[in-house]
Amino acid sequence: MTDKTEQDHVLIFDTTLRDGEQSPGATMSHEEKLEIAALLDEMGVDIIEAGFPIASEGDFHAVSEIARNSKNSVICGLARASTNDIERCWEAVKHAAQPRIHTFIGTSPLHRDITALTQDEMVEKIHATVSHARNLCDNVQWSPMDATRTEHDYLCRVVETAIKAGASTINIPDTVGYTAPRESADLIRMLRERVPGADEIIFATHCHNDLGMATANALAAVEAGARQIECTINGLGERAGNTALEEVVMALRVRNDIMPFQTGIDSTKIMHLSRRVSQVSGFAVQFNKAVVGKNAFLHESGIHQDGVLKNVQTFEIMRPEDIGLNAKNIALGKHSGRAALRAKMGELGYELGDNQLKDVFVRFKALADRKKEVYDDDLIALMADSAAQTVDDYLQVRKLRVVCGTEGPQEAELTLAIGGEERFVDATGDGPVDAVFNAIKMLYPHGAKLDLYQVQAVTEGTDAQATVSVRLSMEGRIFTGQSADTDTVVASARAYVNALNRLHAGQGRTSNSALMQSAT
Ligand code: KIV
Ligand code: ZN
Repeated sequence: MTDKTEQDHVLIFDTTLRDGEQSPGATMSHEEKLEIAALLDEMGVDIIEAGFPIASEGDFHAVSEIARNSKNSVICGLARASTNDIERCWEAVKHAAQPRIHTFIGTSPLHRDITALTQDEMVEKIHATVSHARNLCDNVQWSPMDATRTEHDYLCRVVETAIKAGASTINIPDTVGYTAPRESADLIRMLRERVPGADEIIFATHCHNDLGMATANALAAVEAGARQIECTINGLGERAGNTALEEVVMALRVRNDIMPFQTGIDSTKIMHLSRRVSQVSGFAVQFNKAVVGKNAFLHESGIHQDGVLKNVQTFEIMRPEDIGLNAKNIALGKHSGRAALRAKMGELGYELGDNQLKDVFVRFKALADRKKEVYDDDLIALMADSAAQTVDDYLQVRKLRVVCGTEGPQEAELTLAIGGEERFVDATGDGPVDAVFNAIKMLYPHGAKLDLYQVQAVTEGTDAQATVSVRLSMEGRIFTGQSADTDTVVASARAYVNALNRLHAGQGRTSNSALMQSAT
């Protein structure tokens, strides 16, 4: 055990890249996964669950490269209770300075029914697979999936088996977000009291948010003795998501008077990570989301504003700068120079080299010409847009003119560069965006289905930029695209083309849910 397992230290296990990415549509490219892992490592996350190596070649390579690049974090991979899974997982994580194998099996009656294993047979399987993992790796975590719906006697038995076989972390998943805070605490307490060897290992809590109690359940488990919280940035995850990292970290910090526990997280990195995860996953953060929502530090009502001006503590329990939010949000304009842009980007968490600054500056000037004031959120959207489109893209929007109004049909005249060759088409549709998407499809016919089209205003005002997210699916694979522009229709065209570029490059991914189903 490390010195981080003192009584009051809670390990933060981030599973944004595994359980978070399992959320249908939350696909991230290889480069995006590496970037998110590096940011998590830098933020002080103790353990990064980097993926499910057996799920696909892509997952395997991402986990291997994250393991190679890791600095301080333990790098963990997920594996079902099978020799193949565990060996594949080890092949990927072994490159890390501190590797971990996380293996699991569904232990509740419902899951046992699916496997058709008797209780005894499952115990044997747990012993064999955890021992196998332990022979490969010193650091093994084991999870009884659906633990909160597993009979207590049997849960004690399987946990004891995994400890005896060499697991040093036992994770207790509330797989379907069924438990409630008191029950979550009682379960950890019960296991600590009844299972031989429980004081030699770390209990982890892994909560899903189906009933909106994931954060409360995780904190209750910690109060009962769990010392590892499994969570994701923005609470990303299947269905209603997982425990949100930013919520548990800030709750432990703000209410340290009643929950005297520490984490190693540098909370000032939270906002940047939250934005990047939202941008690369295509999952917008709801405005009233705790800690990282756009409105989390906004005071609209007169009474609140007055109170905050007199004393910020009147209505604020944490400061924006605690999570790395720039409270001043001073706008740049078309007369701002490169030095001001570089400094502002630095504040926002983007360290720009000279060449990148040159490029970003050109885009900033173009934006400032169209928009009087360029705010932090505009610059963040601009950075995401620059990352999404490159000059080497197979498909590029060259020219777009749209006719719309009360008299339909709406019409789009579009010039696309396809593999470097310019092609033009004129198309109609039911609304300007439909006309543009029809035009794109005429120039680049494909069989993908449009699953999601989402528009979000970046700032207030009629000259605001819009961020558009598009999600396509084809043959069970998902491709996402994003773009931002002051012209919503242009942003829509670029976001669609961005998703098609991923489709063209074969950069989609299959959902891991089916694999999880077979882990019982
Ligand atoms: O929710 C769950 O049960 C999981 C396990 C694989 C830990 O994600
Ligand atoms: Zn989960």
